[in-house]
Amino acid sequence: MIYIVSGVSGVGKTTIGILLSKKLKLPFYDADDFHPEDNITKMGDGIPLQDEDREGWLENLSQAIRKWNKDGGAVLACSALKEQYRRKLESIPKKEITWIFLHSEFEIILERLNSRKGHYFKPALLQSQYATLEFPGYGIHINVNKTEQEVLDEIMEHLNNPKSEIGLLGLGVMGKSLAINLASNGVKVAVFNRHVEKIEVDIAKNFALENKEIFNFPWFDDLEKFINSLERPRNIFFMVNAGKTVDIIIESLLPFLEEGDLIIDGGNSHYKDTLRREQLLKESGILFMGTGVSGGEEGARKGPSIMPGGSKQAYERVGSFLEKIAAKDKDGNPCCTYIGPEGAGHFVKMLHNGIEYAEMQLIAEYYHFFRFGLKLPPDEIAGIFTDWNKEMQSYLLEISIDILKRKENDDYLLDRILDAAKQKGTGGWSTNAALELGVPFDTITAAVMARIVSGKKEERVQVFEKYNSTTTNNISGGREISSQYFSAYKAGSIINHAIGFSLLTEASAEYKWNLNLSEIARIWTNGCIIRSAFMEELIDIFKERPGGNLLLHPVIINRMKDHRKDLLAVISEALKEGFPVPVLSAAGNYFLAYTSEQTSANMIQAQRDYFGAHTYERNDKSRGEFFHTNWKPGN
Ligand code: 6PG
Repeated sequence: MIYIVSGVSGVGKTTIGILLSKKLKLPFYDADDFHPEDNITKMGDGIPLQDEDREGWLENLSQAIRKWNKDGGAVLACSALKEQYRRKLESIPKKEITWIFLHSEFEIILERLNSRKGHYFKPALLQSQYATLEFPGYGIHINVNKTEQEVLDEIMEHLNNPKSEIGLLGLGVMGKSLAINLASNGVKVAVFNRHVEKIEVDIAKNFALENKEIFNFPWFDDLEKFINSLERPRNIFFMVNAGKTVDIIIESLLPFLEEGDLIIDGGNSHYKDTLRREQLLKESGILFMGTGVSGGEEGARKGPSIMPGGSKQAYERVGSFLEKIAAKDKDGNPCCTYIGPEGAGHFVKMLHNGIEYAEMQLIAEYYHFFRFGLKLPPDEIAGIFTDWNKEMQSYLLEISIDILKRKENDDYLLDRILDAAKQKGTGGWSTNAALELGVPFDTITAAVMARIVSGKKEERVQVFEKYNSTTTNNISGGREISSQYFSAYKAGSIINHAIGFSLLTEASAEYKWNLNLSEIARIWTNGCIIRSAFMEELIDIFKERPGGNLLLHPVIINRMKDHRKDLLAVISEALKEGFPVPVLSAAGNYFLAYTSEQTSANMIQAQRDYFGAHTYERNDKSRGEFFHTNWKPGN
């Protein structure tokens, strides 16, 4: 085992490191002794080291760590202020390194440094050390504002009774997968699930038992014991159903929590609930992060897209392990970034789901038209989608292809699935948010409504009989699949993304969240449900033009000019043949209205003025001047 005692200069790494090495009967090393001569001179001259300066130093250390570990272990005092430095030092399996982070307030350390003599580090550099410091969410954290003996005793207490770095509460499918993901990444996780006779029996115990060959999960069904098993300040991640349950759990946790503890809600909570909970917990000094997690069971286990919002201070503490468990983008960076304060994380996740609803519905509309209009068998539709997906690289198209191919005996399983969609709310919430913020939201709203209509199965069957609305008679089977269908599909998807992101722009301005759309697109390029090649493109598009509607970007304007005719032709064809295409036609209607110089709204204004004297503005007068007419004939 290698024990690395880290922290800013002056925190006591060497003193405590030596005491610890004596206690553990292991050799002690000081990382400062591994600096190349140039670095020592620079530091002596008061010049802060740059990352390039540290390269050789970290490499020397990582080789030494490998050797010391082979020789039976060591204690190393090393600042290791940034996560990237710490990663470089991990040249041996994570479980063979114990990180001990010493910390205290700036003023206290400054005073200590000023009283030192003969050390080559200039106290003035302390400020830059604090600025560089990335506080890790793992390891043993000790506040050194106490005697050396007390610091040592506290470290020994941790080593003899190891505590977990994070507690995962709620072992549903997502909770279990996240626990495994955290543990696979070397994070010590304790798990909790309530025990309710006949309903939720021994969930935590069984989960720990099932995984005992690979991981050691301390398991609990007693809240107090669970909380006491966690390192202070505690990090508690819960994955439970959104809504009342979250409030009930917070209430039952509160008696066992103390100032500085952190709760992370990883479920699909409403962003307004998140804001309320954050404010409530702030009163007790407890940190709260509403964190969107996307990617379903597989994503949670192998790497989800993570959208943490709320306390920035909390993100600094746990961001490093959220980033560890997140999916990685094409450059290897984590699909996790601090989104913004308050409910920003959950708002962004809600909008992710809004885009998800409309993308799913768009695919479903094509499937429906191809299957029952063009009468193509599912495997043929799978073939068409496979061709499209060479360009689209869309996760939702990818899973739809698998779905279309799946057979149960001789039948396609899809043909046996009841056509009544369920929903848990996020799509509708995003529609509500769009209404509140005055953002046109056609595609996503249409997708929500399509699910609601689908849910009225029995009613639909009765109405179908009354209207005898069989629709497919005019289309001959096996019609050639023209490129027009694909072109219209791409247009629908572009418009849907434009609509979705425009809500983020508006929310960011309204709530002063300072959302970074390019970063949001980046963390949606892997791990999440709406990942696609287009999302990849959006990173640069939003980098170039951080605000404004996507449809105004020159690249998109050119593309939409090409697609426009095809989009309208496919909508017309589907409707003419009697096939509802709510999302595709919502996309078409939005596009036509948004790109129109003259809409129908002059008539609306006149009608309002007619029956309610609501007044209107004129296009031959300046904006802000209002007129009223007595519209009754003869006046
Ligand atoms: C994700 C999904 C996930 C969940 C949806 C489904 O990003 O991983 O969006 O959060 O599957 O909430 O929502 P509905 O049940 O409303 O379709």
